[in-house]
Amino acid sequence: MAPLPISSIRVGKIEDVQELIKSKPNKVPERFIRAANERGGLVSLKTHFHQPIPVIDLSELSKPHTNDDFVFEILKLSQACEDWGFFQVINHGLEVDVVDDIEKVAKEFFEMPLEEKQKYPLEPGTVQGYGQAFIFSEDQKLDWCNMFALGVHPPSIRNPKLWPSKPARFSESLKGYSKEMRKLCKRLLTYIAISLGLKKERFEEMFGEAVQAVRMNYYPPCSSPDLVLGLSPHSDGSALTVLQQSKDSCVGLQILKDNTWVPVLPLPNALVINIGDTVEVLTNGKYKSVEHRAVTNRERERLTIVTFYAPNYEVEIEPMGELVDDETNPCKYRSYNHGDYSYHYVSNKLQGKKSLDFAKILN
Ligand code: OGA
Ligand code: NI
Repeated sequence: MAPLPISSIRVGKIEDVQELIKSKPNKVPERFIRAANERGGLVSLKTHFHQPIPVIDLSELSKPHTNDDFVFEILKLSQACEDWGFFQVINHGLEVDVVDDIEKVAKEFFEMPLEEKQKYPLEPGTVQGYGQAFIFSEDQKLDWCNMFALGVHPPSIRNPKLWPSKPARFSESLKGYSKEMRKLCKRLLTYIAISLGLKKERFEEMFGEAVQAVRMNYYPPCSSPDLVLGLSPHSDGSALTVLQQSKDSCVGLQILKDNTWVPVLPLPNALVINIGDTVEVLTNGKYKSVEHRAVTNRERERLTIVTFYAPNYEVEIEPMGELVDDETNPCKYRSYNHGDYSYHYVSNKLQGKKSLDFAKILN
């Protein structure tokens, strides 16, 4: 996909957060300080008593489809996608080595000197490389985060210049990890199809050669976590997102539920899954692409490795006929080309669920 013309975008100086805290550990520059109603620390007390996001046990879903345990877990999954748009999966069967390894190389990458990381710069208007994406003006607030993002599949979306030669094992690990994540996403989409009463290959057949990207988010500690955000509120443009939190991860991800930011408490060996905009459209809004954000911690850093799985850019997206009923459940989204949607998504700043206005049918 063609990036935006770089020359037309003036983003001002984007300070590297890791460097910032090395030189001035107690200072939070103005450009990171959020307006009072956006701040990470402003979480209502209700949040702390909120029920946790659903947990889906994938070993139950490996059982024969006629088994009661399978049916029960599918119902849980369906409820999770409708009510939360988020769930954690346990017993996902991923090799511990694969999960550990990507975390290790990602950490090593972020710990390298800035000059090394800057060999893979994220240029304004693009979404791959090291830096901050989704910045389009000089006065836009910055996230308290360093990111490294890469297109992974199909190989045509890779930018080989941005695949780092250091750490030496990085590319190898990422390829191995992405292969496993691809299998997991395909598998999850079969369960999601079943939970909607569709045949299990429904998404796979529609998606063609699915597009897969990875973003590694490194959130350094912040001396005033209540003034900043690690990652601005947004919904994901993908069909499905898989988020891995580093093992010693503190709480950071929050999702908007009933107007309250609910923290996602990391579970050991679990992965966080969320429904992206594409599945919201395909299911005509039955399954929700929920707004989420990341907050920072005063003492501890946090690392997440996020896989975005989406249809091929060629695919036309519209609510699936099975889930639309002119009388009782009229079509809420227009049809569009997924490549156009991806372009729209990456050429606007992250702003809650605003991206989906692109497809909404307004009455
Ligand atoms: C993302 C995202 C949250 C986190 O990368 O899209 O929502 O906790 N990340 O890193
Ligand atoms: Ni996200």
